[in-house]
Amino acid sequence: MNLKEYLATNRKRIDDALEILMPPPTGPFGEHVAAMRYSLFAGGKRLRPLLCLAAAESVAKAPHQAYDSAIEVACVLEMIHTYSLIHDDLPAMDDDDLRRGQPTSHKMFGEAAAILAGDGLLSYGFELLARPHAHLDPKRQLRIIELIGHASGPFGMVGGQSLDISAENEDISYEQLQTIHRAKTGALIETALHTGAICAGATDVQERALSSYGAHLGLAFQITDDLLDATSTSEQLGKGAGKDDERGKATYPRFFGIEETRHKARTSVDKAIAKLKEFDARAEPLRSIAEYVYTRTN
Ligand code: IPE
Ligand code: IPE
Ligand code: MG
Ligand code: MG
Ligand code: MG
Repeated sequence: MNLKEYLATNRKRIDDALEILMPPPTGPFGEHVAAMRYSLFAGGKRLRPLLCLAAAESVAKAPHQAYDSAIEVACVLEMIHTYSLIHDDLPAMDDDDLRRGQPTSHKMFGEAAAILAGDGLLSYGFELLARPHAHLDPKRQLRIIELIGHASGPFGMVGGQSLDISAENEDISYEQLQTIHRAKTGALIETALHTGAICAGATDVQERALSSYGAHLGLAFQITDDLLDATSTSEQLGKGAGKDDERGKATYPRFFGIEETRHKARTSVDKAIAKLKEFDARAEPLRSIAEYVYTRTN
């Protein structure tokens, strides 16, 4: 398959759907909505929604069924991810000035507006998940809401971010490092796969395989994020490079050096791909995206 083309087509679909779902920046809350939209449309890779759609596609009867059932959930994952980035960049956290190639939210709008833009994206995302849905019954919607709540909350992304901050300049074990990476980044990626599978009506066995693919890929993704921070330039990444070392972050390169870290990323990607062995050609996008996570340059 042609991954470049697949990514371009689906990123366009995701951006079009986000545009429809997001309110316009007008009326009494226009400034707040404008801040939400600024970060959302600044040009992310859209990995989580791509994975959600690809998971749905890997089990769906037809591609349009995958899209119809999963596109809103996919968009909500991107809103929640964007909120996590806005808060991650705040002076009280990683204190970064550049994100998605543009000034960070708090540089653009001030800290209060940035905090609120993040809060707005998170809450609005859950509102969208609970809305009546033409292709999902309420039972499935409720499972999806629970999963996304768990993955983004105290035992997922937010919990991981809390551990990440506490671990700055501390001696931690490899087990703790894995826990941080799995929680702050892996959990939401795993849930993108799991919810995509639920949307398209996966069997229990398929759900488990796709979640497990997501857990391995999520860890690999944060390992390559650490690698890129250590080996790339800010221009290439669209965000400040070399910041992890400066802040004493718990990262794989800090633990293992560059070469061994690359090896660990490869191992996690291979483990992810191995989970797809019972899947047919409909899982090709997931196999290709896993390779892309290893070879990506931003
Ligand atoms: C960056 O995520 C933060 C991590 C969880 C590693 P991405 O690398 O997916 O950022 P965007 O969405 O492309 O900007
Ligand atoms: C962020 O990890 C994980 C999130 C949940 C946002 P990083 O702090 O490494 O992400 P970047 O490198 O700033 O994108
Ligand atoms: Mg961080
Ligand atoms: Mg950061
Ligand atoms: Mg990073």
